[in-house]
Amino acid sequence: MDLGLKGRRALVMGASRGIGGGIARALAAEGCDLVTAARGLDKLEEAAGILRTDHAVAVEPRRLDLGDEASVAEMEVFLAGDGVDILINNGGGPPPSGALGVTPELWRRHFESMVLALIRLTDAAVGPMRQRKWGRVLTVASSGVVQPIPTLGMSNTLRSSLIAFSKTLAGEVAADGVTANVILPGRIDTERVAELDAAAAKKQGGTIDDARRGAKATIPAGRYGTVAEFASTAAFLVSAPAGYITGSVVRVDGGLIRSI
Ligand SMILES: NC(=O)c1ccc[n+]([C@@H]2O[C@H](COP(=O)([O-])OP(=O)(O)OC[C@H]3O[C@@H](n4cnc5c(N)ncnc54)[C@H](OP(=O)(O)O)[C@@H]3O)[C@@H](O)[C@H]2O)c1
Repeated sequence: MDLGLKGRRALVMGASRGIGGGIARALAAEGCDLVTAARGLDKLEEAAGILRTDHAVAVEPRRLDLGDEASVAEMEVFLAGDGVDILINNGGGPPPSGALGVTPELWRRHFESMVLALIRLTDAAVGPMRQRKWGRVLTVASSGVVQPIPTLGMSNTLRSSLIAFSKTLAGEVAADGVTANVILPGRIDTERVAELDAAAAKKQGGTIDDARRGAKATIPAGRYGTVAEFASTAAFLVSAPAGYITGSVVRVDGGLIRSI
């Protein structure tokens, strides 16, 4: 299937590794030019070199810290000016926590980097998309917004608001050819998941292998998802043929979420 992404330009945030890195690769493989962003410019530059060589696309790495006001403001200016056709809202996750015992300072800090920064950047990016009558906004959230993960209280809580934001946005921009969707990773095999498994093993007093075995036992597919599986779903959701999919929340979770 031709995804119609050749010559389009996407901003992929959190693109230096994991899910964002995989989405950048999947889009580049479709001929999409990229702006890649994360805090660490060295890793972005390294990944950009590989993408340019492998796929002959333009890749422009940009430093972005979603937790830093000045950095977010700089990216807003870029998005409102040159703009992109496709925005992938992705970044780092919060540390493990329950619902209780989180300081107001931590709630505020993670709200600003995980929610407010993405809302601001989406707002800036959507203007040029509407003018061009074509655009895609895809937000990476978590299975925890549907089936809360007991050890990730901040993630469950803060990311739920991104679902409502995306759904509201979808209604506002659909007539201009812009779609807004959310994609929910269940357990995709990345560095962050490896860190969470290590933290779980420490808490349980077992090995990391025990923690991973326990986590896999909760997934009907019996395994973690691969970054490539997740990224190919994301690439489809921002593609031309997916133009009638908007306001949706798509699970890539091997059946982890038990509800319909
Ligand atoms: N993997 C899963 O199964 C899973 C499940 C549910 C939810 N998620 C969520 O999906 C997102 C991506 O997951 P992942 O597993 O790919 O995570 P990851 O391996 O930790 O990668 C996170 C990416 O975001 C960048 N980043 C981190 N903090 C940032 C900040 N303040 N500003 C800008 N960029 C930042 C990182 O680069 P720098 O460190 O260089 O900035 C990196 O490129 C995370 O938010 C995660 O919580 C993942």
